[in-house]
Formats: sequence, C-alpha cells, structure tokens
Amino acid sequence: MSAEDQKRIAGEAAAALVENGMIVGLGTGSTAAWFVKAVAARGLDIQGVPTSEATAELARSLGIPLLTLDEARRIDLTVDGADEIGPGLSLIKGGGAALLREKLVWEASKRCVVIADAAKVVKTLGAFPLPIEVVAFGHAKTQARICDALAECDLGIAPRLRMKDGEPVRTDGGNLIYDAACGAIPEPSMLADALKAVTGVVDHGLFLDLADEAIIGTDAGAVTKAP
Ligand code: 5RP
Repeated sequence: MSAEDQKRIAGEAAAALVENGMIVGLGTGSTAAWFVKAVAARGLDIQGVPTSEATAELARSLGIPLLTLDEARRIDLTVDGADEIGPGLSLIKGGGAALLREKLVWEASKRCVVIADAAKVVKTLGAFPLPIEVVAFGHAKTQARICDALAECDLGIAPRLRMKDGEPVRTDGGNLIYDAACGAIPEPSMLADALKAVTGVVDHGLFLDLADEAIIGTDAGAVTKAP
C-alpha cells in the first residue's frame, strides 16, 4: 500500500470522530487534506478553524464554514498531520511551513489528534530536519544565535534557510523558516526551551505534550496510539 493510501486511511478514520455542532481545527498538509475532504463528505453541521491559507482554500471549496481562531468560542477537536511521531507522541511538524498557526490552533483545542502514514513513526525525533520559524528582520543574526542554542544541546549543526524556486519560503504570517538537520534529538524539551529563548525565533516544529492521540494509517488499517 502506498504512503498516500495510508494517509487517506488515517484521515478518513479521524473524520469519524467529528460530530454535529463541533468546531474543528483543520490541519495542514497532504494527510490533513484527506481528513478535510472526508469530513466535508459527511455533510455535518460543523465549523472549521483552518491552520493555513491553503487549508482555508480547500475547506471553502468543499463548503465547510470557517471561523478565525479568535472567532472560535472553543475548538472541540483538531486533526493535523506530522512529519515525525516520536515517543509519547512527541512530534516534529512544520514541513508545510504552517507550524505557528498549527501550534496556536492545537493549544486552543480540547482534543488534538495527529494523523499520519506508518513511516512517520520513529524511535527518536530528528531525522526530519526541524523547522524553526523566524522573523525576517535580521534573520542571519538570528540564525547565528540558533546555532548557539543548538550547540548548547550538543547539536553542532547550522540550520539552513528554506528556499523554493530560488526565493526564501515565506509562511502565511510573512516569516522565514530555517531547517535544522539534527539527525537525532535526544532531549526534545531542552531543545524546545533553548530555541524559544532566542529573540527572533517565533516558534519551532517540536510539538511536545500536545497530541492526545495518534491515528496511523497502516496496511492493516487505521491504528490508534495513545501517548
Ligand atoms: C505542515 C505540517 C504537516 O502536517 C506535515 O508537514 C505533514 O505533512 P504531510 O501530511 O503532507 O506529510 O506540519 O506545517
């Protein structure tokens, strides 16, 4: 079975968690898109809170009414993809450059479910380069201080500015992304704290203690994992 089929299986299984009247956080990426499509197909009376402009466009095209994060009185359930799922449902996210809006929506949600294909489950986070969102002003100086923060965590690497078509990638909020190829992150919470302490860093793709549940698409169907 292809990874895309596993993503579809996970997205469809998560769509079964949605009930009439819910306000639902809508994640970003190819797996989350399967969820959004499967939810729309159920024709429920729900409202969505999108985590990116791309997801907002998809949800609108499928007729899902949308709220901004500030308009939502509550968020009952958020479903989103991930780049890596590690021990205790620690995550790396941000491969789609939406990590800031995703984290804001996740943190405002009563329940967060991460969905992914089986290859995303890892023993140790870090093979996927960690996305770090920074403000554009003075970003090269910020990059140097990120290197210091990484070195404090015994990660002697220099993060690379994410580029596309010869231009730096901009997030929906107009920020830049640096990707840190850590290899392995033995202490994710220490790294998370060190990165958050750098002026100019808006946020990073480590999602720790946020996921309540994972639904993994496997060749044998959808498998649920608790932290
Ligand atoms: C976007 C994300 C995505 O959820 C993550 O990159 C996974 O993407 P996909 O489902 O396409 O594999 O964090 O910022």
